[in-house]
Amino acid sequence: MQQIDRLPAKIPSPETGSVALVTGGNSGIGFDTARLLLDHGVTVWIGARDLGKGQRAAKELGSTARVVQLDVTDPSSIAAAVERVGDLDILVNNAGVNPGSDDITGTTIEQLRTAYETNVFGLIAVTQGFLPALERSAHPRIVNVSSGTGSLTWNSSPNPQFDWELVQGGGLAYRSSKTAVNAVTLLTAQALGENFKVNALAPGLRRTNLIAGMSVGGDPAEAATGAVRLALLADDGPTGALWSWDGTRAPW
Ligand SMILES: NC(=O)c1ccc[n+]([C@@H]2O[C@H](COP(=O)([O-])OP(=O)(O)OC[C@H]3O[C@@H](n4cnc5c(N)ncnc54)[C@H](OP(=O)(O)O)[C@@H]3O)[C@@H](O)[C@H]2O)c1
Repeated sequence: MQQIDRLPAKIPSPETGSVALVTGGNSGIGFDTARLLLDHGVTVWIGARDLGKGQRAAKELGSTARVVQLDVTDPSSIAAAVERVGDLDILVNNAGVNPGSDDITGTTIEQLRTAYETNVFGLIAVTQGFLPALERSAHPRIVNVSSGTGSLTWNSSPNPQFDWELVQGGGLAYRSSKTAVNAVTLLTAQALGENFKVNALAPGLRRTNLIAGMSVGGDPAEAATGAVRLALLADDGPTGALWSWDGTRAPW
């Protein structure tokens, strides 16, 4: 695995005809990632569990965005999306939920199941479903939208690098699910080899539906630039690492 601490500032141009799928692409960071990939000339599929929301998002993009119904927790929905999308070069596993939860003293198993079902099992199932298509690509890329709140290094630091507002009340379900996403990212990268670029993104605290009700967070478009950078990594780019939205390496 290549050990670099910062991604190059210049984002390489995608191969002509590159195709991307952004799960949960109908809102927030996923929507902005879809928009920026379209700007780079990539053909983009917006995966939306609610087809109507996906269609509204595509209309808002006012472009050639394609829409596919995709509930990452539903195996039949994933299988149908794999059929519909066909060839794929870039998979952005962005769909995520935060059921809100306490620390270990108050978190329910149900809250943990909800978080893991989408954030971890859904991400794995979608990756497995699209793997044959990605293996046919000359430049396969997988971006797992994780969270700095899942970084064990930052969590165990006296001065965590993330905003404590997001983890108010402990957030055991969400944060540990993102720690699992980080582990899955590393092991996936190791399994798939250097031709694949498989990386995780720590997008920073963003004003999206995920943290509705909080009066904090930056522009999701800023986080999307980080996702696009990882989606369009050059062939000599890194694999198997966690990156902050600004292209600096983050600790697991
Ligand atoms: N916002 C932040 O501060 C922050 C910080 C760190 C990491 N993140 C991560 O960033 C990613 C995007 O979140 P966001 O902040 O942009 O929030 P968001 O606007 O709520 O976007 C989440 C997206 O995931 C979709 N989704 C949820 N469950 C799904 C399922 N079962 N199948 C398919 N799609 C599903 C949502 O669909 P619906 O519209 O139908 O609900 C929505 O499109 C998440 O993985 C999140 O954990 C966010």
